[in-house]
Amino acid sequence: MNTLGQQFGGDWTEQKLDCVSKYLSAYTKIMNNQPFNFAYIDAFAGTGYRKVMLDENTNEIMFPELDSQEVVNFRQGSVRNALEVQPPFKKYIFIEEDQDNYFELQKLTQEFTEYNIECKHIDANVYFTDVCHKNWNKHRALVFLDPFGMQVEWSTIELIAHTKAIDIWLLFPIGTVNRLLKRNGDIRQSIRNKLNRFFGEDSWYDVFYNLIYEHSLFGENENWEKIGSIFTEIERYFMGRLQTIFTKVATNPLALRNSKNVPLYLLCFAAGHPKGAPIAVKIAEDILFKELQRGYLPVQRD
Ligand SMILES: C[S@@+](CC[C@H](N)C(=O)[O-])C[C@H]1O[C@@H](n2cnc3c(N)ncnc32)[C@H](O)[C@@H]1O
Repeated sequence: MNTLGQQFGGDWTEQKLDCVSKYLSAYTKIMNNQPFNFAYIDAFAGTGYRKVMLDENTNEIMFPELDSQEVVNFRQGSVRNALEVQPPFKKYIFIEEDQDNYFELQKLTQEFTEYNIECKHIDANVYFTDVCHKNWNKHRALVFLDPFGMQVEWSTIELIAHTKAIDIWLLFPIGTVNRLLKRNGDIRQSIRNKLNRFFGEDSWYDVFYNLIYEHSLFGENENWEKIGSIFTEIERYFMGRLQTIFTKVATNPLALRNSKNVPLYLLCFAAGHPKGAPIAVKIAEDILFKELQRGYLPVQRD
């Protein structure tokens, strides 16, 4: 990609960025009065901009298609939103694996010369393996994990949680996970391995499938069958997984839906530091609740 911005997202992207931006403002105000070096780490940073398509008549955002001739408008991505937060973070770390996106990101260091910005051209999972093993006593960070799909491995989330110094906003790809969970439970080994790495264990299979016994003329058959209310169950299971490693987790993740009202992602929040987690989670839950009140539906609608 060699254009200024990236193309992704419907208006759920606005919801996601709104929630995170509101939290960042609260975070820096609180941290500014504390004796820590506090950083914003955008682990799937993009370019700083994103392209959106606007409907010529209504001026509303359309789901972007690469060949569309509609009006293109540039909106700020998560990185630029973070750079606007006042008071600012002490340090900004932007991680991006794609070479062209990384090239765009680096220009931010010339634009925001007064800020301490570090851009890393690296796989985010590799980056955290290194940085989470350092001493975090005098450091705190807010990490935004905003992948397109299942690029965040459980081992990475675990390392982040173990620092007890990092809070995360995480985009959980519930739509992708649901698609991989085939109705008859016949899942290829490579996909099982991928889900194992993603959830950090293999017991997800027993959570999402029931063994059904069917009687026929030829005897009894055993078949695996995907459980009902699958979106609710995936949410419950993943929240449970987060709660095993973080001090506190927001209990109302926001379902981000496509135009057909199908959940694509869950926007989740979890906090690490034992002392700070209750207030951090309270702030995040308030933000998520208000976003839901703006007219979007909770995930329990499958
Ligand atoms: C959804 S976009 C991020 C959008 C960004 N948060 C924003 O609001 O502008 C995901 C980005 O992650 C990058 N990416 C994908 N896999 C990655 C990985 N393993 N490590 C770091 N970056 C990755 C992609 O190149 C892409 O730019």
